Amino acid sequence: MGSPDTTLGFEVRRLRTQAEFDAALAVRHEVFVVEQGVPAREERDGRDRSGLHLIAVQGGEVVATCRLVFVGATVQFSRLAVKRSARRQGIASALLRATDAESRARGATRIVLHAQTYARSLYDQAGYVPRGREFVEAGIEHIAMEKLL
Ligand SMILES: CC(C)(COP(=O)(O)OP(=O)(O)OC[C@H]1O[C@@H](n2cnc3c(N)ncnc32)[C@H](O)[C@@H]1OP(=O)(O)O)[C@@H](O)C(=O)NCCC(=O)NCCS
Repeated sequence: MGSPDTTLGFEVRRLRTQAEFDAALAVRHEVFVVEQGVPAREERDGRDRSGLHLIAVQGGEVVATCRLVFVGATVQFSRLAVKRSARRQGIASALLRATDAESRARGATRIVLHAQTYARSLYDQAGYVPRGREFVEAGIEHIAMEKLL
């Protein structure tokens, strides 16, 4: 009998340390700035200190992150990034479920986000609905979506 294969296992939770915050920012930089060509000054928009950051940890490494900014009863969700090597394992979907739980726990009634249209099915499956037309932000096609809690 072999030991259980945990290589695909991951944990989703809040950031705990400055080192994890730095690791989450490094994932964002790698995904948005290096991979997608978003200008670094747009990626770091000055709202990180007021946000709640969730991470996914796999094999002891931060492989994904997202950010929740609370404005009244609304959560502005953004900066969802999964390292290329960790994609299509359900990690982004797990971060969206954790976002629902964190948002409800704080009494929020609505989550809003700008989805990149190529990944829209991720948000469709998580219960988000579109609000308005597609638009271009940071050179990438987006659509505004929301979820009522
Ligand atoms: C988009 C992204 C966050 C998805 O992360 P992920 O952990 O691979 O997503 P999941 O495994 O939870 O995927 C769930 C569903 O979302 C959809 N989806 C995910 N990646 C997709 C892609 N590249 N193209 C189309 N649909 C996609 C699929 O329906 C998928 O279900 P399936 O795997 O059963 O087909 C990730 O590819 C990423 O970081 N991309 C670069 C940055 C980015 O685009 N961020 C999102 C900004 S809106």
